Amino acid sequence: MTQALPEWTAGLWPAPMDTLPVPLEADARGIAFMPMTEADLDAVHAVEASAYAHPWTRRHFLDSLQAGYPAVLLVGEALPHETPRPTRPDGRWPMGYLVAMPGVDEVHLLNITVNPPHQRQGWARFMLDALALWSRGQGAHTLWLEVRQSNAPARRLYERHGFREVGVRRGYYPLSTLQREDAIVMQLGLDEPEPTP
Ligand SMILES: CC(C)(COP(=O)(O)OP(=O)(O)OC[C@H]1O[C@@H](n2cnc3c(N)ncnc32)[C@H](O)[C@@H]1OP(=O)(O)O)[C@@H](O)C(=O)NCCC(=O)NCCS
Repeated sequence: MTQALPEWTAGLWPAPMDTLPVPLEADARGIAFMPMTEADLDAVHAVEASAYAHPWTRRHFLDSLQAGYPAVLLVGEALPHETPRPTRPDGRWPMGYLVAMPGVDEVHLLNITVNPPHQRQGWARFMLDALALWSRGQGAHTLWLEVRQSNAPARRLYERHGFREVGVRRGYYPLSTLQREDAIVMQLGLDEPEPTP
């Protein structure tokens, strides 16, 4: 599963990348990180709406871009049996994306999403590895995030990645018109040794 990071990442993510565990399909798909721009927001929002019961609005993404937050798309080519949806002008399609907010010596992960047809293939783990590497390169010591209490797949992903639960924000997320849901606050120490997969 682990191999040297191929050339396709060069310059696409502003991190001193050396090696990362790369999903096996990466070369076949010509995977690349690209900065998310306003031109991507229709495609991004289509993925977002298909991945969440409570998706970010287009405005959330736009605000993050306008604030200058790091926002990257993971794009790839379709395999012969696939019909890319949503499409991009360059023929690649969004495999996933993340949006983060840098702080003084920490980075806050605001959104990480994998396009549903590509889930459970290691792409979220790959994006988290890349984000941790980039964050260390920025001098950050901690990566923070909030996750819905009911989001078992994401909580499992983060636990497997070495994040620890450090708090709860009561009623942080909307659940229905009358109900709210708690957020679990999780933290990854970037100065600690990486967990073994
Ligand atoms: C959560 C999410 C980002 C995971 O993406 P992914 O690419 O499928 O995750 P990976 O394939 O990298 O999985 C890595 C590990 O996470 C855990 N995991 C991921 N999806 C899981 C699921 N559905 N059930 C249980 N564990 C899961 C597993 O431990 C997995 O390792 P394994 O496959 O070796 O068991 C994806 O399901 C998603 O986009 N969900 C909707 C958006 C969302 O909830 N984002 C997080 C908001 S806080």
